[in-house]
Amino acid sequence: MKKLIKVIILLFISVISGQITAADAQKTPGADTSGLYSSKMINISFSNKLKDEDDFFIFGVPSSLILDSSFKVLNQNDALSDLLKLGIFKGKFGEIFQSTIIINKKLKPVILVGIGEKVALSNLKYIELGGKLAVYIKKNKINSASVFIPALSAEKSNAIAEGLLSRSYEFTKYKTNYEAANANISIITKEAQEAYIYYKKLFSLYESIYITRDLATEPANVLTPDSFSVLCKKLEDIGVEVEIHDASFMKKLGMNALLAVAQGSSNPPKLVILKWLGMKNKEDAPIALLGKGVTYDSGGLSLKSTKQMDGVKCDMTGAAVVVSVIKYLAEQNIPVNVVGVLGLVENMPDGNAQRPGDVVTSMSGKTIEVINTDAEGRLLLADTLWYCQNRFKPKLMIDLATLTGAMIVSLGTEYAGFFSNNDKLAQKLIQSGSNTGEKIWRLPLDPGYARQLKSEIADLQNMGNEKNAGSIVAAEFLQKFVNNVPWVHIDIAGAGWYEVNTDITPKGASGFGIKLLVDLIQNIDKE
Ligand code: BES
Ligand code: MN
Ligand code: ZN
Repeated sequence: MKKLIKVIILLFISVISGQITAADAQKTPGADTSGLYSSKMINISFSNKLKDEDDFFIFGVPSSLILDSSFKVLNQNDALSDLLKLGIFKGKFGEIFQSTIIINKKLKPVILVGIGEKVALSNLKYIELGGKLAVYIKKNKINSASVFIPALSAEKSNAIAEGLLSRSYEFTKYKTNYEAANANISIITKEAQEAYIYYKKLFSLYESIYITRDLATEPANVLTPDSFSVLCKKLEDIGVEVEIHDASFMKKLGMNALLAVAQGSSNPPKLVILKWLGMKNKEDAPIALLGKGVTYDSGGLSLKSTKQMDGVKCDMTGAAVVVSVIKYLAEQNIPVNVVGVLGLVENMPDGNAQRPGDVVTSMSGKTIEVINTDAEGRLLLADTLWYCQNRFKPKLMIDLATLTGAMIVSLGTEYAGFFSNNDKLAQKLIQSGSNTGEKIWRLPLDPGYARQLKSEIADLQNMGNEKNAGSIVAAEFLQKFVNNVPWVHIDIAGAGWYEVNTDITPKGASGFGIKLLVDLIQNIDKE
């Protein structure tokens, strides 16, 4: 066990210390940290011209199959036009065709990638294209390639880079025979220097996203509340203040709802506080981010079935997203005050476990009848929300949680559902959703749903008694522990974990929410 923890500590140190030092546009930050992730990266660089020494040339070609003048030097003796004339490759968006042509008297493998009808694609389309290329590059074990698409700006070349970074992720840590692909991809743009400046930020963002993907994928025998909290401590290296509190601290505060979840596990709970105070005035009210950190959710005595238990190791994704967001803000030295509050527990059914029917007194003083021990996330959030607003007096609170299976039923993995007690804040979040392409949908809060939480013997119960609108009822439960603070609850039960590959994100832990919150936090004070 100790050894395993050491492995993740090392992994995390590597991730954190993998800062970008490269100075010129030829050298990629990816190169400096390669091999440090459990996933294998594609190393990306930007260049003004194709590199002859690259094994492959990748050309973006529109469905008109018309090569503009920028192809002139590559289309020697019309070799490329003749290849297109064969009519096998149609230039449809995302279509990929590999062949060889003679360039500079040498036979060169070329990969044609269709860019479709539009000459100028949107960023999102370029991200998708990068994702499709990542799949092809990995599958065919391509070591090096120059990507040439006419008239790529610094921004668009970074969109391709983003697709490459996102889609090439793979969790390989436990594959002992894994042969890491090591692709060096240069993206050709006239604005290579500028592209590289963008890329430093993008890369740092994806380092953060990889952390969430790694943590959510880590099995629960490795990632316990304790080992998770040890990893958080590493954020101190980049200027984040980290507090780790144990059960006795929480007991003193009266966080009995959180402790009740933890009491059936031999892995004790932890409360982690992260503080990134980037503003000149460190006293300025912070933005608070809260994460559900259930490292394993067996359901407790309301035990899940074998089938339901598949995937419950990722029930700490909300907490991982908070870590990732704070890591990015600190690394980029963003002038904001943000605190993170992570309730880390394991929900297990031993002889000391809480029983369905138990009544606990939460930190707020409200008593809760625990109808179902599998509705545990809201119990720990009840105490962390209460603690957070009292201690930090935040200007707003956002919690992220894989809270309800019902959210997967209603929105699937495509959108995350969110709830808010504040229309202005909700509107800003929606704006960040459209800025980042992380799709979110607001669901209602209404006393009509809260009615379901009435308990016969306590102030409230932890589960609705009408068995409908489960995600909303859960949000209503959380709201009982929020006072007059603008608050958002994002239920990432669906969006946090993809069942199938998409063009942009491989199946498994998605890292959903990091881009969304980074955008919101950076824009929150703009009107
Ligand atoms: N972590 C689960 C919700 C979940 C389920 C997330 C599947 C991702 C995939 C949560 O703790 C839970 O078990 N919720 C129950 C609540 C119910 C007992 C009121 C649920 O959704 O079934
Ligand atoms: Mn549960
Ligand atoms: Zn859970």
